[in-house]
Amino acid sequence: MRIDVLTIFPAYLDALDLSLVGKARRDGLLDLRVHDLRDWTTDRHRTVDDTPFGGGAGMVMRPDVWGKALDDVLAAGTAATPAVPPAPAPDGSDAAPPAPAAASPRRVLLVPTPSGERFTQAMAEDLAGADQLVLACGRYEGIDARVAEHYRGALEVHEISLGDYVLNGGEVAALVVVEAVARLLPGVIGNPASLVEESHGAAGLLEYPVYTKPPVWSGLAVPEVLTSGDHGKVARWRRDQALARTAERRPDMVARLDPEALDRADRAV
Ligand code: ADE
Repeated sequence: MRIDVLTIFPAYLDALDLSLVGKARRDGLLDLRVHDLRDWTTDRHRTVDDTPFGGGAGMVMRPDVWGKALDDVLAAGTAATPAVPPAPAPDGSDAAPPAPAAASPRRVLLVPTPSGERFTQAMAEDLAGADQLVLACGRYEGIDARVAEHYRGALEVHEISLGDYVLNGGEVAALVVVEAVARLLPGVIGNPASLVEESHGAAGLLEYPVYTKPPVWSGLAVPEVLTSGDHGKVARWRRDQALARTAERRPDMVARLDPEALDRADRAV
């Protein structure tokens, strides 16, 4: 997968050299490029913003600068993932065989904004199947609305929000999206089993609490069932904990659960 991040603060994304995402980049599993939006400005001050039409506080990012930058990174992504070349004719003749039905690469433009749709694990899973993600990090009062409108004609565009609070710009959201998506790419997480039971997974529940050594710490003992060696009891306890935690902390998630699927899962434990 290729990911391009456009920002006026490229250094914000330096953390993506670290840990699993950094290793995925070095291993060639993720082609991540961070670009300085100001490289597409033409004036002496490298201006990316201007005052809002209609008045009001703050500045708005100019669509012409964003348009040039996005056109360039999208074109570079297209060159990096060309359509499949036609295979030679099976009999060795020069006659061109019917062109293979090459699926066209899936490119997605993501614009982090507090007024976007909520970014979720389901969205991360969907985006992990794309060929190129482009993250356009706005600052100030945001990016001129014509940018998203323009690219919606040519590719998939999602304006996304991390949650109901306001950040100073899209860079932190870009970090979140890259990490949430990259860890789902094949080969990035050494043990894919660790993706199965985590919070916001298929069960629609938060994860149960976890413990390790020492068995007693600060006067607090690990729940006895976990040291019993009874796998059936451990599975039942973990599911009860996940259900109780979700009910207490995220009643909205409980409301979305399918009661029949819940019963089935409980019979299976
Ligand atoms: N930019 C500013 N606030 C944001 C938020 N809550 N989510 C995503 N991008 C943002």
